[in-house]
This record gives sequence, C-alpha cells and structure tokens, in this order.
Amino acid sequence: MLDKNITEIKESFYTDIKSVSSIKDIEEIRLKYFSRNGLVSQLFEDLKDVVKEEKPILGKKLNLLRNEVSSYFEEVKERISSTQSNKENEIDLTLPGKNYIVGSKHILTQTLDEIKSIFKGLGFSVANGPELESDYYNFESLNFPADHPARDMQDTFFVSKDFLLRTHTTPVQIRLMEKQAPPVRAIMPGRVYRNEAVSARSYCMFHQVDGIYVDTDVTFAELKGTLVSFAKQFYGSDLKYRFRPSFFPFTEPSAEMDITCYLCHGKGCKICKNSGWLEILGCGMVDPNVFKFVNYDSEKYTGYAFGMGIERIALLKYGITDIRIFFDNDLRFLKQF
Ligand code: DAH
Repeated sequence: MLDKNITEIKESFYTDIKSVSSIKDIEEIRLKYFSRNGLVSQLFEDLKDVVKEEKPILGKKLNLLRNEVSSYFEEVKERISSTQSNKENEIDLTLPGKNYIVGSKHILTQTLDEIKSIFKGLGFSVANGPELESDYYNFESLNFPADHPARDMQDTFFVSKDFLLRTHTTPVQIRLMEKQAPPVRAIMPGRVYRNEAVSARSYCMFHQVDGIYVDTDVTFAELKGTLVSFAKQFYGSDLKYRFRPSFFPFTEPSAEMDITCYLCHGKGCKICKNSGWLEILGCGMVDPNVFKFVNYDSEKYTGYAFGMGIERIALLKYGITDIRIFFDNDLRFLKQF
C-alpha cells in the first residue's frame, strides 16, 4: 500500500510541478507536499503502520523520494523566483534617456582664456590684484594729478575717503613692480567698476586686461609689435590696424590702437561713427614718474604698458551691439558660444 502511494505521489508531484509558473504556484506545491500535513509528510506517518520487516526498505525508499522531490522543488523554486524578480526590476531600454544639460564657459571667460593664451605665448605671465583698491594704487601711484577728472565721483565708486572699487586693472602694475625687480612681463586681468549710467555702451562693472613689460631697452616698436601680434592672433591675420596718439597719466607717450570696423570693414557706418575704425586698447611707454613710486631706476629701465576692456574686445570680435547682454545670463545668447 505504502509502496504504491510512494509511486503515485511521486508521479503527481512531477505532474504538478510542470505547470508551475509563479511564486504563488510554488507555495501551493509546498503546502500540498511538504507542509506538516502535506502528502510527503503523510507518507512518513503511514510508515509507522507498516509491518516491521518492510520498514527498512520502505523507509529507505521514502527517504530517497523525499530527497529527490524536495531538491527538485528547490531548483524550480529558485528558477521561478529569480525570473520573477528580474521581471520586476527589468530595465526598459526603449525609455528615452535622461538629458543632462552641460554648461559651458561664459563668452567673457572664453575671451579672457584666449587673451591669456596669446600673451602667454608672447612670454607674459598672469598677475592678479584686489578689486577693492586704495586711492594710492588706483590713482596716485599712477601719476593722476589730484584734480584729474578720473577721480571724479561720477566715475569712481568710493567706499571711503581712501578706498574705492578699482576703476581699471592698471593698479596691479604697481603692485607687481613693488614686489618684483625688472624684468617684469605680465598681464593682469580682472573686474573693474565705474559709476556710470548703464546703457548699451557702458556698464557699472566690466573686465579689463592690463599688461606691462619693463626691462632695459624696451622700445615703443616692441610695444607695437606685441600688440599687433596679439590683435592678429585674436582677430585674424588680415586685420588692419593703426596707432593714434592719446593721453594716459601713467604712460608717455601714450597711444590708442584701432582696428578696422567689423561691420563696414572700414567704409564707415553707425558702429564706427563713420570713421571706419574702432578703438580696442590704450597703451604707451611707462611714465618715469610711475617708476619713482616703485623705486625702479628710470635711467636704466624702460617699459611699455597697455590695457583693454574684455567686453569691448569680445563685442568687436562677435559683432555684439549691447554690452548689457553679457550680464543678462540669457541662455539664448550664452549658448551661441
Ligand atoms: N587703464 C586705462 C583705462 O582704464 C587703460 C590703459 C591705457 C591701461 C594705457 C594701460 C595703458 O596700462 O598703458 O582706460
């Protein structure tokens, strides 16, 4: 009797387990065969009533059955539960991916990077100075007479009687020369501030790059050569330029460099006020009076200096007509560069 049951239960187990397809089915099989009152457990109960002589053989058979079906059961259970959980965690490869918006450098930073790299190629290092400056560095040591219009309240944001927001990056020339004996060859980029009405052409904060080279026998011809080389690398080698006499308290002689108007190419238009030319920078030979402030021997050393506005340099390169657009942070503008 028990023998027959063993065979039947074995068969019925294999039939049942064939149709298993979910964790729920697995649980049903477990209950039906392996729980306390399950069919397999029941067989062991029945063994108790078997005659003594048959017990060892049937017991062995029963053990074999239990080992076989339970290990097969575990196998199937394992397979079903791993495919089920895979289904739950399945990745849908057809879903559109996450779109990361990658930022880029602001056009002014890009312009400054380009200016720096050109001047580095010409042997200049890069120096920095504070935006909050003293009257001494911003004006006095740069040979501004006490009543010079640049000291006027209209141009300068004074923080106190002696301190102000620098109106140009030229004071860094003084700071550098105070620290270092000639030869000095560096550019000095940074923010500057002017108390001007904001308009398409001027802003209360903008950026400049100054440059200085002091050594024995530095000449105006070298100044021109350096600036022409810079301008051609920056704007293109077919660039036309001219130097015009000008005035700055800290250089003598002083000049301004013009390039042909990007819009009319020299014919004359609204942008260049019909002159065909656009000013890109101021420059000159360092005034011997400036050398006095930093204890350089003006009999022994000469130097040239220059300064330009980064916004202006970029405006002219890209044909932008309103300086305010640099600071609006409008992505439609920024993304174009
Ligand atoms: N600092 C001047 C300005 O803000 C620009 C300038 C002119 C700088 C001549 C210089 C220079 O170093 O030599 O307008």
